[in-house]
Amino acid sequence: MYRTIFFHSTDSTNRVAFALAEQGAAHGTAVIAETQTQGRGRLGKQWTSPAGKGLYCSIVVRPNLSLHDFSRITFVAGLAVAEVIRHKYGLEAGLKWPNDIFFNMKKCGGILTESSGLSSALPDMFAVIGIGLNVNTCRNDFSDDIRDNATSLFLESGRNVVIKELFYSLREVLLEHLVGFESYGFKPVIEQWRKRDFLLGKELTWVAVNGKKVFGTSLGPDDDGLLHVRDAKGVVHEVLSGDIQLAKAGYK
Ligand code: BTN
Repeated sequence: MYRTIFFHSTDSTNRVAFALAEQGAAHGTAVIAETQTQGRGRLGKQWTSPAGKGLYCSIVVRPNLSLHDFSRITFVAGLAVAEVIRHKYGLEAGLKWPNDIFFNMKKCGGILTESSGLSSALPDMFAVIGIGLNVNTCRNDFSDDIRDNATSLFLESGRNVVIKELFYSLREVLLEHLVGFESYGFKPVIEQWRKRDFLLGKELTWVAVNGKKVFGTSLGPDDDGLLHVRDAKGVVHEVLSGDIQLAKAGYK
């Protein structure tokens, strides 16, 4: 039985879960909130969290993985989210490298994985997998700046979803997938992930962490999870980090 800590409101479930993990919280411990006041996204972005409309949860994991594989946990989490959505609601989600859940050019969710990194010795390493999913969100619940580029499970399926049920299924499937990753490595993960690759063949802009921009076409992730982007001159860039923006109607 895994521990679950519920909040009506907290600043960020990732922050709370990370603090708990530093104090020794067990594998599978989760923090879930009805709303967050400072929900965090990748690259310092904010994750808006309207009360009762979305799933905002963070799961502490302590898998038996190499340091290198820790950085790939987000791919496992993305697959788990997509599988649960298909199984429970019959919807086929696309995955946008490296951490987004998409339907028809619109973002439905994102994953922020933060790990203890080199500060802990390998056996004590942990990661916090933060999942934000627009669940029962209506168009008017989205702020003006994202309304046209965001969607929710409700908008896609026409059905209201019990958020706690979704959370319990998701944790179960995610932890199962991590066991698979420990046993069989990254190859089967990335092979499954590619089947849902939302960016493949699309035009995009890669904004590197130093601000450099590259326009190109996505060739998909390689066997290590690096995204390959071919620019107009035919040069293939191997992308490890940074932001991927779609050329048209892009959701950042
Ligand atoms: C992204 O799209 O950049 C990732 C968004 C991740 C948001 C979730 S909501 C639950 C958890 N707590 C946070 O502060 N962030 C993650």
